Amino acid sequence: MSTQRVAIVTGAARGIGAQVAHRLADDGHAVAVFDLDEAACQVVADEINAAGGKAIGVGVDVSDEVKVEAGVSRVAAELGAPTILINNAGIIRDNLIFKMTVADWDAVMAVHLRGAFLMSREVQQYQTKEGWGRIVNLSSTSALGNRGQANYSAAKAGMQGLTKTLALELGRYGVTANAIAPGFIATDMTAATAERMGVTFEDFKAAVAKETPVRRVGEPADIAHAASFFASEGAGFVSGQILYVAGGPKD
Ligand SMILES: NC(=O)c1ccc[n+]([C@@H]2O[C@H](COP(=O)([O-])OP(=O)(O)OC[C@H]3O[C@@H](n4cnc5c(N)ncnc54)[C@H](O)[C@@H]3O)[C@@H](O)[C@H]2O)c1
Repeated sequence: MSTQRVAIVTGAARGIGAQVAHRLADDGHAVAVFDLDEAACQVVADEINAAGGKAIGVGVDVSDEVKVEAGVSRVAAELGAPTILINNAGIIRDNLIFKMTVADWDAVMAVHLRGAFLMSREVQQYQTKEGWGRIVNLSSTSALGNRGQANYSAAKAGMQGLTKTLALELGRYGVTANAIAPGFIATDMTAATAERMGVTFEDFKAAVAKETPVRRVGEPADIAHAASFFASEGAGFVSGQILYVAGGPKD
């Protein structure tokens, strides 16, 4: 088994984040489950602990500087120095540009971009001190442009720029930064999109699968697998990369 590290996964009370938290625990790491609602975080942490892993749930709004500082300090005190960070928390506020409100724009920027910035700034202190670290940011195929997602696609393209800059600045301290850009993954987020479009989730998934080269939609485990690779000891020479996990080529 590889070295046991302390990982923080944001937005991990459900969906992709929850699956990544489970996978990193299975890989032997202690895991801090960050999400808005501490009780919901604790459910995932309890599942990990019941399965023989080590986890805590921490209620943190990643866009709140004070909460981020307090949450990361708590992880360091309770689990040890966090050196793996998965910036996964996200929201959608989709609308065509002429109907998009400033509040919808700002909310999406705050969670994805300010959240990833605040979390990375906080965690890099521990990573650089340890001389080892892994940052994995969740981008999206929407970074390439997606109708109805001016805010989200801009934020997800921003995540790619942030990733490359973190890789450049932190590489000398043994810290890598990479991004995963998922295609369609079956979660509450895509279920909400189906609802907005007025189609059932099953019909939506079937239509997407038909257009996807591997003829299926993605599952959270597909993303957890990629995150596990980027977080691994052996991936230390892979940095600043954007991995499209979309069942086919995207970029
Ligand atoms: N599902 C997809 O098809 C897909 C595709 C590409 C990228 N992504 C990205 O993957 C990530 C996870 O998506 P998902 O589908 O699991 O979504 P999801 O909606 O199921 O889960 C997102 C989680 O983030 C949490 N969250 C939201 N705002 C937060 C905040 N301010 N602080 C802390 N936690 C917060 C939510 O409470 C929720 O538990 C997101 O960044 C999303 O943009 C998803």
